[in-house]
Parts: sequence; structure tokens; C-alpha cells
Amino acid sequence: MTRSSTSDRPVVDTPLTRHAHIRVPLICGPMYPCSNPELVAAVSKAGGLGIVQPIALTYVHGYEFREGLRRIHALSGGAPIGFNALIEASSKTYHNRMVRWVETALEEGVRFFLTSLGNPRWVCDRVHAAGGVVYHDITEKKWALKGRDGGVDGFVAVNREAGGHTGSRDARALLEEVSDLGLPVVAAGGVGEAAQFRALLDMGYAGVQLGTRFIATTECNSDARYKEAIVRASSKDVVLTERLTGVPVSVLRTPYVERLGTTVGSFARMMFRGRKTKHWIRTWYALRSLRQLKQSSVEGANSDYWQAGRSVDAIHDIRAAGDIVADFAAALLMDTPHISS
Ligand SMILES: Cc1cc2nc3c(=O)[nH]c(=O)nc-3n(C[C@H](O)[C@H](O)[C@H](O)COP(=O)(O)O)c2cc1C
Repeated sequence: MTRSSTSDRPVVDTPLTRHAHIRVPLICGPMYPCSNPELVAAVSKAGGLGIVQPIALTYVHGYEFREGLRRIHALSGGAPIGFNALIEASSKTYHNRMVRWVETALEEGVRFFLTSLGNPRWVCDRVHAAGGVVYHDITEKKWALKGRDGGVDGFVAVNREAGGHTGSRDARALLEEVSDLGLPVVAAGGVGEAAQFRALLDMGYAGVQLGTRFIATTECNSDARYKEAIVRASSKDVVLTERLTGVPVSVLRTPYVERLGTTVGSFARMMFRGRKTKHWIRTWYALRSLRQLKQSSVEGANSDYWQAGRSVDAIHDIRAAGDIVADFAAALLMDTPHISS
């Protein structure tokens, strides 16, 4: 990691800053339903990388997909952005829509893609042909191997501190587990302040992806009660629930979550295990959770399902997203000893 304070050059040079053409190796991760265009644009404009979550952009924030990308580009002054392709082939219709979204994103100049689940091969083929890069979400080595075999250029390693769907490893163990694959690794989970960001880069990560910290910003248009709950919460208030999507999701423990409980019933559990029934029940849960999260996080319904990670411990205020990127960048220029990668 080489440092520079010149304003148009990367603040540090890492594989991520080179791949994504950004100044600060800091990603605002895709967040359903919280990734509104203003938030994505603010992070990119400040020198980080905002990632578009296409279902949030279209279904929650009401944009036709191409128009939404153009809106983000207009707000960010054309700074690089990324696109999140959740590629698990749950249905042919969904797959076809994702193929069209990837094509449109490429046409609109997006060159950084983050794939989740599934086999990323088709995305890599298409994106590499256009000169772009693909990073793949992983929580353990078997998914990293699958991603590498699919041709990805790097990983986003989701650890057990993360908001949304969590991993099971801590950040150091996960990095050690996949570092022999020789691809850049971005840490996701648990980071709410600049010192933690710098520590992960010093550990050998090529960048850091944040979610929860960027919800508590002026640009994020999620419900005010949700943002305030993040500011007030400590990691003791974060629980894992299976009731949203059928697999553990990290959320704030609200009275609503307490009332509902955090585990699925025995019938659903049996359906999730069955070879024939698991696809059906996953789709049903996924569609239901899209509606529930939109209502609770953006529309202010009283069903308080608020996804957040253990990074809440270091989040004490609602700030402008660009100021967060600037503070994190400044921490990289501070002259304290660090390990080069
Ligand atoms: C509200 C919320 C929604 C999320 N939605 C997605 C998503 O749609 N796709 C995805 O790949 N990751 C999603 N994530 C994970 C984030 O992109 C990021 O990896 C994670 O939040 C990092 O952990 P942190 O919250 O501790 O910073 C979500 C996280 C949160 C908090």
C-alpha cells in the first residue's frame, strides 16, 4: 500500500483503487432497501465507490433502471460506481432481468461488478470483454474457490460482524483462509470508524466495504427512526434473525423483532431442508422480505425490521457520506506505523 496526498491520485494505492479507479479504498456496499441514488453518488463523488443495488433502485426508489444510473452519474459528476448482481438463479425471469441489468450497466459505463451467490462465470465473461472487473461476495473458502473458478478478479469477504446477511468468521481468520488464492480481498463488516478501516488495510485487505455506517448519513433516505436507532444502538442490540429470509440476517433488536422471535417454525425449517421444496420456500421468503424491508426501513411502517451490523458500536452521529469518506482517507495519511501490503 503506497500513500499519496495529491488530490487527484489515490490516497493509497491498492489493487482495489486500481481496479475500481477510485481514490479511497472504501466501498459503500449494496444495501437493499437503503441504497438510494443520493447515497451511492455521494460516496463515489467523495472518492470512494458507491455500489448500486438494482432492486432497491427500481422497486424501492422507483427509478427505471437506466434512468436511475444516469441520475447517480449526474449527482456524482460521473465518478465510478459499482453494480451488485445477485446471481442465484431463482427463476428464469429473474435471471433474464439480471442479464439485462448487467448489459445496461455496462452501456452506462459501469465497470465494477460485485456478484453474490451463484456462479459468476457469465458475469465475468461479459464484464471482462468490456474491460471491467468482478469481485465476488464470500463468507468462507469454498465460495472463494467457486468465485475464482468462475473467473473473478477479487473478493468481498463478509465477516461475522457485518450487517445484512452475515458471515461466520472474524476478519483476520477470513483473510488468512483465502489469501493463498492470490486475489485482492476487501473486508466487509464491523467498521464504523476510520481507525478500524486503517487497521484492516494494515492487516492486508485491499479495501473495506461499509454498510451500516452509511445508513446513518444525511444522504441516505431511510426512515429517520431507523437512522436514530443505529446511532443509539450498541452491538448488544444486534441480533440474528432467520425470520426475514430463512437464513440469519443481522438486525437491531426492536420490540417488533422481540415479539416475533428470531427463528423460523418447524414447518418452514423442514421446507428449507427438502431438496424439492427449498427453492420454492427461499423464493417465497425472499419476496416477502423485499416487501417487509421496504415498508419498515424506508416507508416508516411500524414493523421495525432494521438491518444493521456490530459496527453500530462506533457510530455516534448522522453525518454527510462525503465527510465519512474524507475522514477515513485522512486516517490513511496519518503518520503512524503500518504494515505495507
Ligand atoms: C441494510 C443493509 C442491507 C444490505 N443489503 C445488501 C444487499 O442487497 N446485497 C449485498 O450484497 N449486501 C447487502 N448488505 C451488506 C453490505 O453491503 C455490507 O457488506 C455490510 O453492511 C458490511 O457490514 P457493516 O454493516 O458492518 O458495515 C446489506 C447490509 C445492510 C446493513
